[in-house]
Amino acid sequence: MKKTLQDFSHLKPDQPIGIFDSGVGGLTVAKEIKRLLPNENLIYFGDTKHLPYGDKSREAIIGYCTKITRFLLEKNCKAIVIACNSATANALKEVMEETAGKVPVIDVINPVAEKVAYEIHNNVGVIATKATVNSGLYRKTIRKHNKFIKVDELATPLLVPAIEEGFKNHPITHSIIYNYLSNNKLKNIETLILGCTHYPLLINEIRQYYGNRVRVIDSPGIVANQLRMILDRNQLLNGKNPQPSYQFYLSDLTKNFEKISKKFFGNSIDLKLEVL
Ligand code: DGL
Repeated sequence: MKKTLQDFSHLKPDQPIGIFDSGVGGLTVAKEIKRLLPNENLIYFGDTKHLPYGDKSREAIIGYCTKITRFLLEKNCKAIVIACNSATANALKEVMEETAGKVPVIDVINPVAEKVAYEIHNNVGVIATKATVNSGLYRKTIRKHNKFIKVDELATPLLVPAIEEGFKNHPITHSIIYNYLSNNKLKNIETLILGCTHYPLLINEIRQYYGNRVRVIDSPGIVANQLRMILDRNQLLNGKNPQPSYQFYLSDLTKNFEKISKKFFGNSIDLKLEVL
């Protein structure tokens, strides 16, 4: 199929980048974007009221995501980053339809699946929410590009609530990780994709479990690179900006979000309540 190049010449480099997730997970992507693109103004939406997306129906996820996309477009964003795998797996098409091709949409599954398909040639495991695993999108996308890779996906639904409760370096989280990663489905993997943007918050614990046996993929870095490439290609990278603005909107204010966002973005950030 012939791909037509989209025209984004109506957009300006100093417009903000919109990023969204159900909660703190997308902050792992936002943090990488801030590191790689320090001149960009960012607007983050965390849908904490509807968390976790991973247990919701496709229809519900589509409803949340299209509303958030509309909100970010009203805030004049020049690009939308779906910093959530469950949202990507269930609502990517609808988010793109909502933007009507006016801004680039960057998701968290396609760039990671493509990189794995082209650069890594071994057995791949994916851990993710039920909503992502049920879609089979990682397996389909990886195997579309490289049909020799074996992909095993495992739903690991207890990790998001544990992370949202702030159970990092906690015996509860260690035991959940141990139970999931020792599952037979993941027995022969050589590479593991963290198919949920919350999981990089536990990357040390996950790497500890495997030692050097399994390569754990850093998805937020891959996604931030993809965003940079798309902005660059469309001359939309922001120039010198000594005081980038970081705005955070949440559909429910939670202590854990406040803690992690301040750790990543500094104490002076302001969290606004916005119920869509
Ligand atoms: N961080 C999200 C993901 O990447 C959503 C987790 C959830 O809300 O269940 O799937």
